[in-house]
Amino acid sequence: MNLVEKGKIQDVPQIHRLINNFADKGEMMARPLSEIYENIRDYFVVRQGERVIACAALHVYWSDLAEVKSVAVAEDSQQQGIGTQLVEACLKEARGLCIPTVFCLTYRPAFFEKLGFSQTDKMELPRKIWTECYRCPKFPDCDEVALICNLEV
Ligand SMILES: CC(C)(COP(=O)(O)OP(=O)(O)OC[C@H]1O[C@@H](n2cnc3c(N)ncnc32)[C@H](O)[C@@H]1OP(=O)(O)O)[C@@H](O)C(=O)NCCC(=O)NCCS
Repeated sequence: MNLVEKGKIQDVPQIHRLINNFADKGEMMARPLSEIYENIRDYFVVRQGERVIACAALHVYWSDLAEVKSVAVAEDSQQQGIGTQLVEACLKEARGLCIPTVFCLTYRPAFFEKLGFSQTDKMELPRKIWTECYRCPKFPDCDEVALICNLEV
């Protein structure tokens, strides 16, 4: 039974390696170390002893919108429900904050669809979310799929 916890500042280098290992393979968006430090309060982690084996973040954009981002589970810990637990922790936090809509941008839409998300047109998402896309090497040819999850708050 893995336990989802809020990230700590000491976890940042391991979170950074976990995310960027998948980003190097084109599976998710890279995150600079500085961005993870600045947003450490967004992050949830799962540990195995001293090792951070998985992470996910909930980032608030506005009164009615947040994003689940940087969901990453180490390859040797996948298919055990850890990714699901992390996304559920993000959705629980969003519900607790009374944020009714959570979106994500991903190459793994089926994983999020099983968790209650449904696909949407990226252009339907508010412009505010594009601020970080400008820094993405793929911009403006984004090939990630946008999904949203409506929460009862
Ligand atoms: C996508 C990702 C986060 C999924 O993490 P995960 O921990 O493997 O996810 P889960 O174990 O919760 O669910 C994955 C599958 O395992 C199944 N599963 C869940 N609990 C399980 C358990 N206890 N035993 C066996 N299988 C289980 C799920 O039903 C799901 O099935 P599916 O492959 O048919 O969809 C992971 O593959 C990953 O980190 N990928 C690279 C980064 C990435 O693509 N991130 C996406 C967001 S940007």
